[in-house]
Amino acid sequence: MKVCVTGASGFLASWLVKRLLLSGYHVTGTVRDPGNDKKLAHLWKLEGARERLTLVRADLMEEASFDKAIMGCHGVFHTASPVMGSAADPKAEILVPAVEGTLNVLRSCKKNPSLRRVVLTSSSSAVRVRDDFDPKIPLDESSWSSVELCESLQIWYALSKVLAEKAAWEFCKENGIDLVTVLPSFVIGPSLPPDLCSTAYDVLGLLKGETEKFKWNGRMGYVHIDDVALCHILVYEHENAHGRYLCNSAVVDNNVLASLLSARYPSLPIPKRLAFFVSEFYDVYYMEKVSTLYMYEIFLIL
Ligand SMILES: NC(=O)c1ccc[n+]([C@@H]2O[C@H](COP(=O)([O-])OP(=O)(O)OC[C@H]3O[C@@H](n4cnc5c(N)ncnc54)[C@H](OP(=O)(O)O)[C@@H]3O)[C@@H](O)[C@H]2O)c1
Repeated sequence: MKVCVTGASGFLASWLVKRLLLSGYHVTGTVRDPGNDKKLAHLWKLEGARERLTLVRADLMEEASFDKAIMGCHGVFHTASPVMGSAADPKAEILVPAVEGTLNVLRSCKKNPSLRRVVLTSSSSAVRVRDDFDPKIPLDESSWSSVELCESLQIWYALSKVLAEKAAWEFCKENGIDLVTVLPSFVIGPSLPPDLCSTAYDVLGLLKGETEKFKWNGRMGYVHIDDVALCHILVYEHENAHGRYLCNSAVVDNNVLASLLSARYPSLPIPKRLAFFVSEFYDVYYMEKVSTLYMYEIFLIL
């Protein structure tokens, strides 16, 4: 079975490629710079890569760029998207590549008669940036972050994820494409690529006493990268998977995280408390939907 993974060299996608290869899939990964050996070496070291991995150049900003990679694939995992907190020109650097790039990928999917399902990597950022709900009630997949709130607080990454996911749902509905979305919380775990992704830098920043990235939320959801990769494959393979799937393991209060880290690494300048929240956007999720899918799989195996 052949599948495509966009942005294959990224933090999340590299683990997904690893898990797909281990499951026996033939994987076509898209990358922006196939000649960059240093950036891609970790992919070629994965088990099964030499036999079943192909890397193809594609850029979110180029119309029809994904045609070649996607043609003939049964599944498309669209993970590529700008992951950065700030930008000199947020519209050009974050919003347009996320939204137009997603539509470019989906237009290539539409041309592919072999397509069975598209799995889009969205984010819990597309769920939790709201100020109009009861923080005592955990969020589920029916929740959407407020576009207006993201704009007014200039949370460009969250805005890009909401707009890209909404655009994907609309396009897939109009064009009869089977779409499932995965919404991971803050992804942690070992990085396969040599360069750290921006979320890992956020945690590293905390170890250096930088609290800026933790000011938005009172607490955050965390999920291991391997669980995120497996979740993508679960919702791709499962016949009954549909709609959005939150993907989160634990929710940790920022102050608990800071005090745990500072107790464990007393010589590092980690603050003991993070007291300046802009807001307490709620970060507690009902994980019932994906758990039900998983339990169904276990039941089938037994
Ligand atoms: N990390 C998290 O905590 C987290 C949580 C929830 C959701 N997500 C989602 O997971 C996905 C992967 O994120 P990540 O954490 O793995 O970050 P990452 O390592 O920065 O990966 C982002 C990928 O997107 C690609 N990309 C960016 N702009 C592109 C463009 N114009 N054309 C083609 N490819 C482009 C990058 O390619 P280059 O390598 O060429 O730059 C990279 O492969 C994203 O959709 C992100 O929103 C991440």
